[in-house]
Amino acid sequence: MSSSSSSSSSSSSSSSSSLLSPQQLPMKPIPGHCGHTFFGPFRDRLAYFYNEGRDKFFENRIQKHKSTIFKTNMPPGPLIASCPRVVCLLDAVSFPVLFDPSKVEKRDVLDGTFLPSLAYTGGHRVCAYLDPSEPKHSSLKSFILSTLSARHHKFIPLFQTGLSELFNELEAQISNKKEAYFNTLSDTMSFNYVFRLLCDKSPSETRIGFKGPKLVDKWLLFQLAPLGSLGLLPNLLCYFEDILLRTFTFPFFLVKSDYKKLYDVFYEFGSSVLDEAESKFGIERDEACHNLVFLAGFNAYGGMKVLFPGLIKWVALAGQKLHKKLADEIRTIVEVEGGVTLSALNKMVLTKSVVYEYLRIDPPVPFQYGKAKVDFVIQSHDAAFEIKKGEMIFGYQPFATKDPKVFENPEEFVADRFVGEGEQRLKYVYWSNGRETEETTAGNKHCAGKDLVVLLCRVMVVELFLRYETFEVESGTFMFAPSVTFKSLTKVSSSP
Ligand code: HEM
Repeated sequence: MSSSSSSSSSSSSSSSSSLLSPQQLPMKPIPGHCGHTFFGPFRDRLAYFYNEGRDKFFENRIQKHKSTIFKTNMPPGPLIASCPRVVCLLDAVSFPVLFDPSKVEKRDVLDGTFLPSLAYTGGHRVCAYLDPSEPKHSSLKSFILSTLSARHHKFIPLFQTGLSELFNELEAQISNKKEAYFNTLSDTMSFNYVFRLLCDKSPSETRIGFKGPKLVDKWLLFQLAPLGSLGLLPNLLCYFEDILLRTFTFPFFLVKSDYKKLYDVFYEFGSSVLDEAESKFGIERDEACHNLVFLAGFNAYGGMKVLFPGLIKWVALAGQKLHKKLADEIRTIVEVEGGVTLSALNKMVLTKSVVYEYLRIDPPVPFQYGKAKVDFVIQSHDAAFEIKKGEMIFGYQPFATKDPKVFENPEEFVADRFVGEGEQRLKYVYWSNGRETEETTAGNKHCAGKDLVVLLCRVMVVELFLRYETFEVESGTFMFAPSVTFKSLTKVSSSP
């Protein structure tokens, strides 16, 4: 993937003014055909995974239908999902309808057109599967937000501890083997961080020892396998993979004992969190604990598996010129402020912009779904379309946050895109299932970890450039995440 950093601040694209004042656009029928109930989804998923590839799949259909809104099938399709038909949204104006709980229902759509067996979550529909109109969503989300807010003073120091362990290990591996695979180290750090934050203990001091990431990985993979691929080329093997992953879901009993280990350890060491769930939010302990495992394992650790490798990849590819600017900003401010504090982080305008630019150009969770609650009209840049109650709406987020009518040079990593005037474009950054300028509440489906995630990304960049001058990586893709291997790390020669 090509990328470059540019020192010029981006201004709004010339045609973007139309966005700000919605106008009457011609009503059109939604283009696209989903085809035969069985062969249509099969044809489309072969195109999506193998024959065309993810981005080309969407690009080709935009060209074909001359529209950023059209109908298609999304994987997995039958037999796993009985109705894979979606209305696909691929521009910045239509996409935010997916954040509007009055128009779309977010019930059981976290993974798209299918819901993994509830056995994976102890028989409960956890918070992320609930629509805000369901009363339980509000109590579970309030419990989660309160748990996080009570721990905010630990966010930075705990992460610094984790990063220091990670960097020591990176350096050791580079000096021994001339390279270091980042993803495994990042996963270990992320799991330890989340567990320490929620359970006040290092997982190594518990029964699961160092096995946490492996236990969660298996549990995640079994749930999400129908959406994954090893990235095979179109050949006979790809048909085999397709049938293996997308005909039946993987049965829970294969990970039952792994999940039980996770549940037990959270039940024991997360007791203060669970006490609060029971006493303050009236949630039964068993249900609260399954939610805690999902929060820690799926939402937080699962998100971080993609988040940190992606951040490192984009910052590395942006090159030495940007590294020098970041190092100058970070070291100057840390010295003046006397440490890596919230106030110091808030003053780092370039660092902040780099993090937002990464979340814009390569959002870690690229798919969002919602089912129309009512009939309504939706607009792209050029036309209006009627959506019928009950239709599944799907947004492929990278196309919305790389909409050329909103962002100039959308495919380019512009490090200072969100500095100064550029900050106004933050409302078109959607990574957290909501606008970056809007708040997470118990009444919406915005990511509960939104502010924490942005904070951790900033701290990662800061600690990186307090310790190193520059670094180089090789990157690829494996299943759902970028894979990143460090090839070199240049340490800071003298103290700042
Ligand atoms: C690490 C990177 C993360 C990413 C990329 C991410 C992204 C997202 C996205 C896109 C959604 C909405 C899914 C949908 O409904 O379509 C979501 C929901 C959620 N996230 Fe995150 N998240 C991350 C980390 C976290 C963390 C650290 C926490 C908390 C510790 C968290 C807690 C949640 C919860 C509870 C929901 C469901 C919200 C609701 O039901 O209203 N996430 N996240």
